[in-house]
Amino acid sequence: MGGAVSAGEDNDDLIDNLKEAQYIRTERVERAFRAIDRGDYYLDDYRDNAYKDLAWKHGNIHLSAPCIYSEVMEALGLQPGLSFLNLGSGTGYLSTMVGLIVGPFGVNHGVELHKDVVEYAREKLDDFVKNSESFDKFEFCEPVFVVGNCLEISTDSHQYDRIYCGAGVQKDHENYMKVLLKIGGVLVMPIEDQLTQITRTGQCTWESKNILAVSFAPLVQQSRADGDKPDSVQLPPLSVRSLQDLSRVYIRRTLRALGADGEGREAGQTRRAPPQKRKRRRRRCRRRRLNAYVFGGNQLIPQTMESEEDEEEEEEGGVMVVGGRQAEEEVVEQHRKLGGCGGEEEVEEEATKLEEEEEEEEVGGERVRDIGEVEILKRANVLRDQITALPLPESLKAYLLYYREK
Ligand SMILES: C[S@@+](CC[C@H](N)C(=O)[O-])C[C@H]1O[C@@H](n2cnc3c(N)ncnc32)[C@H](O)[C@@H]1O
Repeated sequence: MGGAVSAGEDNDDLIDNLKEAQYIRTERVERAFRAIDRGDYYLDDYRDNAYKDLAWKHGNIHLSAPCIYSEVMEALGLQPGLSFLNLGSGTGYLSTMVGLIVGPFGVNHGVELHKDVVEYAREKLDDFVKNSESFDKFEFCEPVFVVGNCLEISTDSHQYDRIYCGAGVQKDHENYMKVLLKIGGVLVMPIEDQLTQITRTGQCTWESKNILAVSFAPLVQQSRADGDKPDSVQLPPLSVRSLQDLSRVYIRRTLRALGADGEGREAGQTRRAPPQKRKRRRRRCRRRRLNAYVFGGNQLIPQTMESEEDEEEEEEGGVMVVGGRQAEEEVVEQHRKLGGCGGEEEVEEEATKLEEEEEEEEVGGERVRDIGEVEILKRANVLRDQITALPLPESLKAYLLYYREK
């Protein structure tokens, strides 16, 4: 399955293509796709293929094609706070994207048949939490994966708002899947070669809609000797977050809100500069030292921090560019807001530090990408800077940063 859109060079390229082909239609879904690099779920030797619209299978590891995931994410109609169950959760790629949308007050569970695949998914999740720039730009509901056959979920299990099944469902199992849904919930699954969206409209009523013709490997059936009772799979409990964890969520949320750029940009949202005919930009940055103040108890403590500012911008071809300057201003602005008292003051200018040129060309209708605003925004981890600047003990800052190394 797949091959519906042209191959990309990187994750952003792939998402551009999925958007252009109308597989990705909403901003919320687009942001989640951009935040999670599909290549990170590939083994290193195969990574080059990650940005093609193709499924990938290696041993027990199996990823569906990007066009399928896009349709699934759109059809699920995800919202913050919803509970999600992924049947055949595989590498955790989809579950991680879902976690960025349902957020810290959602539920994110996965059941996967193969133990080695669940271990792989946990490693990938750990890598995302520890190393991804996206992690600090979103509120996240960490997926919890359990090993087991999803056709043997214990009958007293809780129900979910959203369910996806990543392998082909036999008609015999349709009802089994449907009763896992809460009333008002949405189930998306491949059944009879159709990706189907089912909404539970009442205790005994469901509405069904075919989304896309697909071809999926079938769910592995229960294997047991005749007469044996099936091992029932226990889904993870619906646990409540600890007060400490909730505090971390709210502190990070508050700092992120302080860092918003005033243009209604949501967490993790990035803008991509439109394709330019031809531009040439010269940028010079100078380093400024700023005085800011932070609250320590009920006292204001002066702190010195440095920021960079563009001094000059030159363009060719009459194209206006918003780019690095804005991203950097954002960082400066956040430092200012963190100070919270309007105490910013320029005290010293140093010699020009950096001069750089950036070029972008449109050649024969094909855009050649340069480092643009998106890249700069992605690199600026504002939340991290904000937390690091807080007048708190190091151990508390490390907790607020989820003990991330980068
Ligand atoms: C196409 S992959 C899904 C990949 C997943 N969406 C991801 O993001 O990586 C289908 C997965 O379903 C799993 N699977 C198949 N039959 C299953 C069953 N009966 N119970 C649980 N998992 C099953 C497979 O092992 C495989 O990992």
